[in-house]
Amino acid sequence: MTEERTALITGGAQGIGKGITTSLAEAGFSVVIADLNLEVATATAEELTGRGLKASAVQMNVTDSASVAEAVQQAEAQSGPISVLVNNAGWDDFMPFLDTTEEFWDKIVDLNFKGHLRTIKAIVPGMIERGYGRVVNIGSDAGRVGSSLEAVYSGAKGGVIAFTKTLAREIATKGVTANVVCPGPTDTPALRKFADGAGDDADKVISGMKRGVPMKRLGTPEDIGPAVAFFASEGAGFVTGQTLSVSGGLTMA
Ligand SMILES: NC(=O)c1ccc[n+]([C@@H]2O[C@H](COP(=O)([O-])OP(=O)(O)OC[C@H]3O[C@@H](n4cnc5c(N)ncnc54)[C@H](O)[C@@H]3O)[C@@H](O)[C@H]2O)c1
Repeated sequence: MTEERTALITGGAQGIGKGITTSLAEAGFSVVIADLNLEVATATAEELTGRGLKASAVQMNVTDSASVAEAVQQAEAQSGPISVLVNNAGWDDFMPFLDTTEEFWDKIVDLNFKGHLRTIKAIVPGMIERGYGRVVNIGSDAGRVGSSLEAVYSGAKGGVIAFTKTLAREIATKGVTANVVCPGPTDTPALRKFADGAGDDADKVISGMKRGVPMKRLGTPEDIGPAVAFFASEGAGFVTGQTLSVSGGLTMA
């Protein structure tokens, strides 16, 4: 393993990000949780350090380049050069495309697509300089096959997949890989909030999601973390530009 063992996870405080943070900490990385919500990020870092793992928290807003730059500087001063970047922060609201506004499109693209670009622009040059790095972008099966009521989000996630392939090509000779992990419906605070928004129909919404999955259950953050840990590992050095669904078989192509 290289000496650089620091992994930064955006949105790593809760949900899928917490699953990823935990897997990487258990794999021996010093994890930096870069999240908008510093309070929850700090609590998650403390939970991990309480188990004897290496973890810290910084506040980062991936929709603000100055915030990204400041957080990266703070993370590297605290924990050393970042050798693994996981772009996980993301969000959506469910509505028919024809009801969406341009303001909503900008919000979705700024967070789910441009958020990844900002951290990569800030962190990948250092990886190239050091000749080693792993970028893992969190997409979604919505970006591979579409998802009703998530048109703009699906477009942004599809953009993440295409962008990652091009980035992977451009940096392929530099010791830096870039891959995508696509969760299917996963039981997180974000998904629960969406289901609760459906009021009395919340259980029906969740049941409908489960029915579409060959394994007949929702994913968990613990299902996603190990896939990210694989792409983040030194042994995955010949794997780049790939898209891996972790969704109980929901998508198979
Ligand atoms: N839950 C699912 O079913 C599902 C399915 C496919 C893909 N995903 C993707 O997985 C990722 C995580 O989703 P989740 O369900 O765990 O979400 P979540 O809302 O439960 O957690 C998201 C985390 O990101 C942080 N965050 C939000 N905006 C941020 C910003 N601007 N800057 C930094 N941090 C920010 C939040 O504070 C939170 O800690 C997202 O990219 C999402 O699109 C989720």
